Amino acid sequence: DIKGFVFDLDGVITDTSILHGNAWHQLADSLDITWSTKLGNALKGISRMDSLEMILKAGGKANDFSDAEKEKLATQKNTNYIAEVNKMTPANILPGMKDFLDGLRANGYQLSLASASKNAPRVLDKLELADYFPKVVDPASLTHGKPDPEIYTKGAALLNLKPEQCIGVEDAAAGVAAINAAGETSVGIGDATELAAADMVFSNTAAVTLANIKAKLDN
Ligand code: G6P
Ligand code: MG
Repeated sequence: DIKGFVFDLDGVITDTSILHGNAWHQLADSLDITWSTKLGNALKGISRMDSLEMILKAGGKANDFSDAEKEKLATQKNTNYIAEVNKMTPANILPGMKDFLDGLRANGYQLSLASASKNAPRVLDKLELADYFPKVVDPASLTHGKPDPEIYTKGAALLNLKPEQCIGVEDAAAGVAAINAAGETSVGIGDATELAAADMVFSNTAAVTLANIKAKLDN
C-alpha cells in the first residue's frame, strides 16, 4: 500500500525549471556556447556543478576552465537564479498542486522533498509551502545526483517507509530514472515520450490528482 509521496520541486510544484533554464541559457550565451531546448531539458534535475559540466561539454569547452573558474561561473548562475526566486509568491505554485498537496495531507499520506536544489528551502518559503515538507533530503548529503536512486531512497527513509510504499513525482527524465531505480512508483509530469520510463505520465500538473493516480495504479 502506498503511504508516502516523495516530491521533486523544480518543474513539479513550481515553474522554477524555467528560471533555472533561463539562468543557464544566459550563462551559456556569455560563454559563446550555443543553447538548445534539448540541452535545457537534459539539465532538468541535474545538480548545479554537473549542469555546468554538461553545458561546457556541449560547447566543447570542458577543459577550458579551472575548478576555481567553474565555481565562479556556477555562483554567477546561482546569483541570477536567486534574484528570480526572490520575486516568487504562492501564485507561482503550478495549477492544482496546492489542492493535490492538501488532499494528500488530508488522506494521511506522508510527504518528503527530493530536490537536487540547494535553493529548495528558499523556494518552499517563497511559495509558503515549507510546512508541507518537514522532511527534505539535503542535496549536500548526496554522493550521486539523479539519475542515481540515492535521493529518492533517502526521501523514503526520511518517512520511515519502504520504497515500495512510496510514489515519486518528477518532471525530469533523470528524476524518473532515479525513482524507478529506488524501487518506488514513478509519476511523470510532462512529455510522454521524454518521460516514457515513468509508471504513469500526466501532461500537466492540473491532471495530477489522487483519484487519477489511484485509477492508474489499479490498472
Ligand atoms: C534541480 C533543478 C536543476 C538544478 C538543480 C540544482 O534539480 O531541476 O535544474 O540544477 O536542482 O539546483 P541549485 O538550486 O542547487 O543550483
Ligand atoms: Mg524537476
